[in-house]
Amino acid sequence: MNDIEARQRKHILFTWSAQNAAAPVRIRRGEGIWFEDFDGRRWMDFESQVFNCNAGHGQKAIGEAIAAQAMELACAHPNAVFEAKAALGERLAAVTPPGLDRFFLCLSGAEANENALKIARAVTGRSKVVARRRSYHGASMGASSLTGDPRRWPAEPDLWGVQRIEDPYCYRCPFGQTHPACGVRCAEHLEHVIQMEGPDRIAAVFLEGVTGANGALVPPPEYWPRMREICDRFGILLVADEVFTGFGRTGRWFAHQHWGVVPDLITMGKGITSGYAPLGAVAIRHDLAAKFDEKVLSCGLTHYAHPISVAAAVATIDLYHRTDMVGNAARMGEVLKAGLKHLAAKHPGVVGDARSLGLFGALELVRDPATREPLVPYNGGFPAGSPAARLKAALSARGLHILLRWNYLFVAPPLCITEDELNLGLARVDEALTEVFA
Ligand SMILES: Cc1ncc(COP(=O)(O)O)c(C=O)c1O
Repeated sequence: MNDIEARQRKHILFTWSAQNAAAPVRIRRGEGIWFEDFDGRRWMDFESQVFNCNAGHGQKAIGEAIAAQAMELACAHPNAVFEAKAALGERLAAVTPPGLDRFFLCLSGAEANENALKIARAVTGRSKVVARRRSYHGASMGASSLTGDPRRWPAEPDLWGVQRIEDPYCYRCPFGQTHPACGVRCAEHLEHVIQMEGPDRIAAVFLEGVTGANGALVPPPEYWPRMREICDRFGILLVADEVFTGFGRTGRWFAHQHWGVVPDLITMGKGITSGYAPLGAVAIRHDLAAKFDEKVLSCGLTHYAHPISVAAAVATIDLYHRTDMVGNAARMGEVLKAGLKHLAAKHPGVVGDARSLGLFGALELVRDPATREPLVPYNGGFPAGSPAARLKAALSARGLHILLRWNYLFVAPPLCITEDELNLGLARVDEALTEVFA
């Protein structure tokens, strides 16, 4: 442990960790998909820090915009009018679907969901909401209550009114079906839950564009359109949580755009500033937002539309456009898809499934491909010496910053990655799998 880490550990807590077990990222500086630690070792960032550094490290245009904003106007009232705030509204409206052109700003993905929940309740006058079992929507109390993931458990009891639906998880279909013969039973299941809970009592359905940290569950093509139809039939709002999947991650600005569906609200965070400053946002359908033209919008925060965050977002979005990073994510997404399939074919004893959309993918690791028993059980850990612990060590030894969560090995590099870099990273994954499992 070097000096900085010891000084930091003494006073600053790590998130989601037993403090003594935390294995922090040691980062001094970065460029593109690479970052350097305190010993001068270079790492490939295959997790984009925490799925937020979509633009990559060391982007001067974002840094300069932050510096310029800080020198000109660093602190402003939440309802202040200033240039970067007006510009951000225009930038966001240009990339969100037509009709969703008004935005509530906040500081994180959790807060975006928190505020979407309040807005959905306010505009519908209904109180219950529906969310998926395998989902993560954030750590604050409302977002945690929406969340299905076990990170919710320590915060229980939840806020009242969240109903759960099963997931579009084709590899482990909760209904024991196979696509397409299933008739997308996972989508039909929403209608059943709505009927059981009272259609006129449900304000909204919250869905991640593609399930993120719970397995990169890419839904079948009929899924989102079917969810839209069901919501429309009952006057229920459809909320796309694009905190993880937004800003190019899946090869489109927002993942739901793959399926031609327009949600009523979109929640955003992470890639909106590429992690260079904290920001979240809720895109709201124009006519829903208009309800607050006369009625009070009872949501807000001191650092609403913080000048530095807003300036970072404008510069980040401009950079995505200027360098066609969303297009690159789509093109590199094809390389990633082929690469993951290749790894699955080469390591059939441990890779049960390979799935991806754009530059977000996962290998699902199993003990036995016939039974599909997960390599690490749901919410399980990595006991010393276990194959999963050895795999983590083998990946680290190859300079890969990459997330192995339970039995999911995620691949989500910055969107500026080149084909050579992507193939190099996948070759390192291949070597690590070979070292541990061959
Ligand atoms: C889909 C999704 N929604 C919401 C959040 C919460 O975002 P934040 O950690 O910025 O509060 C996350 C974070 O990982 C996420 O993946």
